[in-house]
Amino acid sequence: MAFGNPFAANVERKLTKEELIQAIRLDIAGELEAIYLYDAHIQATDDEFTKKVLADIRDEERAHVGELMTLLRHLDPTEAAHFEEGVQEVKEMMEESGIRSNSENSQSTVGSLLKE
Ligand SMILES: [Fe+2]
Repeated sequence: MAFGNPFAANVERKLTKEELIQAIRLDIAGELEAIYLYDAHIQATDDEFTKKVLADIRDEERAHVGELMTLLRHLDPTEAAHFEEGVQEVKEMMEESGIRSNSENSQSTVGSLLKE
């Protein structure tokens, strides 16, 4: 971080599309780092109220990852195809191991829940 320098984040020109995609990847990394740090601080204290506040902030950062990943998929459809490739690979491995994926669970409908 370079908070001492008020011009640290300023740029001479607008980003190209490729540079924008790189910037979004960097933003995602920043959100993941924030999640990691908040979680570490939650684990490092017994103060229940602090844990509650930090967990709320951490979960907002998780939502930011979702927003940025969606933006990245929109900006770079080839990246989206690679993500999907990875998703399918793990789903196949889970199926081979007899593990039911969470995404299947979360896609429950009222009808499917009534059958359970
Ligand atoms: Fe964030």
